[in-house]
Amino acid sequence: MIIYFSGTGNSLAIARQIAFATNDSTLPLTEAVRRDLTAERRIGLVFPSYDFNAPPAVRNLVPRLKISADAHVYIIIPCGAQAGNSIWSVRRLLREKGIEVRYSHKIRVPDNSAIVFGRNPNDQVWKFTRFSDRLKNIINDIKAERKRLHFAWFSPLGWFMGTDRMQQWMLRTFRPAVNEDKCIGCGICERVCPMRNIAVDEKAGIGPHCTACLACLHACPQQAVEVGAKPSPKTHQYRHPDIKLKDLSLQ
Ligand SMILES: Cc1cc2nc3c(=O)[nH]c(=O)nc-3n(C[C@H](O)[C@H](O)[C@H](O)COP(=O)(O)O)c2cc1C
Ligand code: SF4
Ligand code: SF4
Repeated sequence: MIIYFSGTGNSLAIARQIAFATNDSTLPLTEAVRRDLTAERRIGLVFPSYDFNAPPAVRNLVPRLKISADAHVYIIIPCGAQAGNSIWSVRRLLREKGIEVRYSHKIRVPDNSAIVFGRNPNDQVWKFTRFSDRLKNIINDIKAERKRLHFAWFSPLGWFMGTDRMQQWMLRTFRPAVNEDKCIGCGICERVCPMRNIAVDEKAGIGPHCTACLACLHACPQQAVEVGAKPSPKTHQYRHPDIKLKDLSLQ
């Protein structure tokens, strides 16, 4: 079973590619925590890195997973460049439950947060071809159930970004808000939010459980979801090319 958390589809696409090659299936993390997965003998965790760590939602949900201590557990991080403490922190959370992570790696993909800084994540699609060999090697390692941890060691930068002050900064920097003048109440953001944190009545309203994944900002057809009250152009909105909106709605 491959468990994923994804805002703009990179993690979902990688989870699906691994599932296809290893004859496995995928499950969103929000659904996985409701199931008993103790019979699964191989468990993959695929999620992005946010601010040099695992997304807050992933760190909150992973301890609730019901998986066997005998399972071959691996972690793959599709990230812009730096996994930081993403693997280290989730490995620690699992270890507290007596579960060992046997294999880990990261793979570089377009950075969906570039939009917040006025850059275009679509300009980074070159990473798919540049790092395709890395993905093939990862898949071969998973098939062979190789035991090797990559990018799993403590990162001082990841620790610094995890301090209270930096986390407050992160939330101020990345947490989106809806511009009501632009919102047409179409409901797309409500469907793609992996935290089920958006309710649309006439307009969209963002609740308190935001994990700053930016799914809503990238998916809004009106560009009505903004970070820091700055509009983001349509050309900068990103979704993994193999992933459709309805795929993200299944989370
Ligand atoms: C709030 C936020 C913070 C991010 N921080 C990092 C980071 O520290 N390092 C990095 O390499 N990528 C970072 N990214 C980029 C994502 O890890 C990357 O785009 C990932 O593939 C997104 O996965 P998804 O498409 O499955 O949501 C960040 C993205 C967001 C939204
Ligand atoms: S996707 Fe955009 S336009 Fe549609 S409800 Fe959400 S904020 Fe409003
Ligand atoms: S409100 Fe938007 S940014 Fe926050 S978790 Fe939901 S989709 Fe992600």
